[in-house]
Amino acid sequence: MTDTSILFEETAIGPVGLRNRMAVAPMTRVSATEDGRATDQMARYYGRYADGGFGLVIVEATYVDKQYAQGYLHQPGLTDEAQTAAWATVVDAIHAGGAKACMQFVHAGALNQGRHSSYAEGAIAPSAVEPLGTMLTFYRGEGGYPTPREITRDEIAAVKQAFVDSCVRAVAAGFDLIEIHGANGYLLDQFWTAYTNQRTDEYGGDARNRIRLDEEIIREAIAATNGAVPIGLRLSQSKVNDFEYQWVGGEQDAADIFPVLDAAGMAFIHITEHDATAEVFGSGHSLAGLARKHSNAKVIVNGGLGAPETAAGVVAHGDADIIAQGKSALANPDWPNRVRAGEALEEFDFGMFSPLADLDSAEAWAASR
Ligand SMILES: Cc1cc2nc3c(=O)[nH]c(=O)nc-3n(C[C@H](O)[C@H](O)[C@H](O)COP(=O)(O)O)c2cc1C
Repeated sequence: MTDTSILFEETAIGPVGLRNRMAVAPMTRVSATEDGRATDQMARYYGRYADGGFGLVIVEATYVDKQYAQGYLHQPGLTDEAQTAAWATVVDAIHAGGAKACMQFVHAGALNQGRHSSYAEGAIAPSAVEPLGTMLTFYRGEGGYPTPREITRDEIAAVKQAFVDSCVRAVAAGFDLIEIHGANGYLLDQFWTAYTNQRTDEYGGDARNRIRLDEEIIREAIAATNGAVPIGLRLSQSKVNDFEYQWVGGEQDAADIFPVLDAAGMAFIHITEHDATAEVFGSGHSLAGLARKHSNAKVIVNGGLGAPETAAGVVAHGDADIIAQGKSALANPDWPNRVRAGEALEEFDFGMFSPLADLDSAEAWAASR
């Protein structure tokens, strides 16, 4: 049997101790109330991962304002007291199982599939570029994305402030860590991605400029929360609407952005790839390995790591401190406990996302088996 003991070592992100190196990746389940409050069903769902042995549970992408940030109907938010109180219940369930809780904050940008009727209509993005791809049907989307409107400089400042204010609320809700979602095609990734950012101001152009909004959010959120919880960033190449995108600058992009993010106080970097072990840019490293090489932050790695020996191998190789499971955690909420006991793992089945990738569909799917 493969030695997976490295996954069960204790670790820490800043002052936040983790009982092991296994995290649940953030996964949008569109199961909040219409007005963005997390529910008891969500608390039970997240609590199961903690009970199943994960050391860290990163909750799903949560919107930061009541303007353009929400991208999916029944997505949760963290923009007011009611939403804060609802998330506190989820945090309690995660803590009860002995895991630490990480909030993930998102702004949808151009990728808007629907939002609460009292919020703003339409979509804003760095530039008025029609998104590639089509909407996600398992989140109630259909057809292509409309072309967004270019965000104004005042709106950039307001979005930044919304992330910062939401970070303050996340601390109040009891979260141990905060992840800023800079990956997978949403607003911050639209700034980072060359073809969706055609700006000529200090937020567009070279890598340094395209990462500036992430940098400023991290820096200002740390100041506003007095460093109460470590704040990290998720980055990817692939997007929900463009699977094959690659960073235009290759390894030089990593060399350009990670020192800037470190200087802003980034406590961890969460890298997600289809196959997190794959070499990138002919560099001799995976993307997580490049993060390790060019950043001093803790590295969380995600993508295709469901096999225990693969997950353990990434950590043993030195590419990451923590591995995150997405679909394998959906199939095995007790992935760590099963691995420790040497028990077989379930295969992920897309049937649980039918008709929607929400918790009701998953519960009906489970009951029918
Ligand atoms: C249903 C579903 C919802 C997801 N929602 C999010 C999300 O809210 N935020 C995010 O950063 N990634 C999200 N992802 C991406 C996952 O975090 C992860 O990167 C992806 O599933 C690949 O990892 P895996 O091979 O372990 O499944 C989602 C993935 C799935 C399957």
